[in-house]
Amino acid sequence: MNATLERWSTRRAFILAVTGAAVGLGNIWRFPYITGENGGAAFLVLYVVFVLLLGLPVMMAEIMIGRAGRRAPMQSLGHLAAQAGASRHWRLLGLFGAVTVFCILSFYSVVSGWSIEFLVMAINGDFVGRDPTEIATGFEAFLGDPRRMTFNHTLFLFMTMTVVAAGVAKGLERLNNLLMPLLYLLLLLLAGYAATTDGFATALAWLFRPDFSAITPLVVMHAMGHAFFTLAVGACALMAYGAYMPEHQSLPRAAGAVAVLDVGVALLAGIAIFSVVFTQGMDPGEGPGLMFVTLPIAFAELPWGALWLSVFFLLLLLATWTSSINLAEPMVATLQGWGMSRGKAAAAVGIGVWLVGLLSVLSFSTLAEWRPLFGMNAFDMVTTIPTEIFLPVGGLLIAAFAAWIMPRGEARAALGAGGSGFLLWQGVVRWISIPLAAMVLIAGLL
Ligand code: TRP
Repeated sequence: MNATLERWSTRRAFILAVTGAAVGLGNIWRFPYITGENGGAAFLVLYVVFVLLLGLPVMMAEIMIGRAGRRAPMQSLGHLAAQAGASRHWRLLGLFGAVTVFCILSFYSVVSGWSIEFLVMAINGDFVGRDPTEIATGFEAFLGDPRRMTFNHTLFLFMTMTVVAAGVAKGLERLNNLLMPLLYLLLLLLAGYAATTDGFATALAWLFRPDFSAITPLVVMHAMGHAFFTLAVGACALMAYGAYMPEHQSLPRAAGAVAVLDVGVALLAGIAIFSVVFTQGMDPGEGPGLMFVTLPIAFAELPWGALWLSVFFLLLLLATWTSSINLAEPMVATLQGWGMSRGKAAAAVGIGVWLVGLLSVLSFSTLAEWRPLFGMNAFDMVTTIPTEIFLPVGGLLIAAFAAWIMPRGEARAALGAGGSGFLLWQGVVRWISIPLAAMVLIAGLL
């Protein structure tokens, strides 16, 4: 396989594509609920530290490999390993990434399907005049209905795989780039509304006044996993996007911009959601339903609430769409690398993910009590294990490859940050990121 000549048309296009991958359910749905489950501010501090010391340097490593290899992830790794005289088995890292995103996409599609359901309900005005308890029980009833959930899961996955099959991801990116600023604006508006509620002060204290006694090795591991998840790092998915990165662009600056935006969106969502939680006297640790219950409650109280809520779910859907396209990419690229056509590869991935996704669907009804591993049901398993173990392990290996194995000249050129910038990046990855990730993994798993 020869190096690709294709490039993102502008520097901005590259940044926006990576932002499209990064901003999604991780920021608006997962961040609030897992911060809620892990005690608030102390978790937030850990998460930000991991983004800075681990997520960001490893994101650069991952994109560098793609940019230097200019091929699909497995081929880029193999090509660079051969150049460096290292083992060809580094290719398998690309395969490991594909397995990771397979598991993640299986639940990502199901939860994005919830957004479709809520979009339709919001458009119908189903939340108008409902009190918070009614909204909460309505969500429970939806979770208990595998048929409605399967329908939405199928629809979302179909939307994703058609775009991937057509290879028009860039067309969608354009739409995304146009509309995402609107999502940020709506979140700002929501946070502004949150500031007028009774729960706002409690929410801020809860989010920003850390109680470090809440930290256990497991909480640290959750925070690390989430940092990887939200930045879309650790599964070679951004490696695929790096292959098209323009020649003359500073990677640290691009990655920094993405990280700031990504954390910003999560914070705005957190402020909005926890204000409602505390205003309504709800439990912050209520789990995966948190966003789906709090936001309809918040919007129900705003003028034009049904309209805003519809727009919000529409934009959320768009954000998850660009993320899921990124999730599908490493698998499709891998199959293509094995000689399958793009269309067939997308169909195969779609069917496989759909089937495994059914386990997540049924985890809220028929299979709720099927708990094969440490008391976790299927949904718990796919939402934690790939994120908290596979992504950090993958990220660690990606970092090791970029900082220790890859030919130095290639790595330097791919970072695009000058000599001292390169040494700084290399020092951080070698002596901080890799040991940190290894320590947290070991401590969390023991
Ligand atoms: N970052 C996305 C989100 O926050 C999810 C995502 C997209 C992802 N691509 C990824 C996670 C690759 C891990 C690996 O919703």
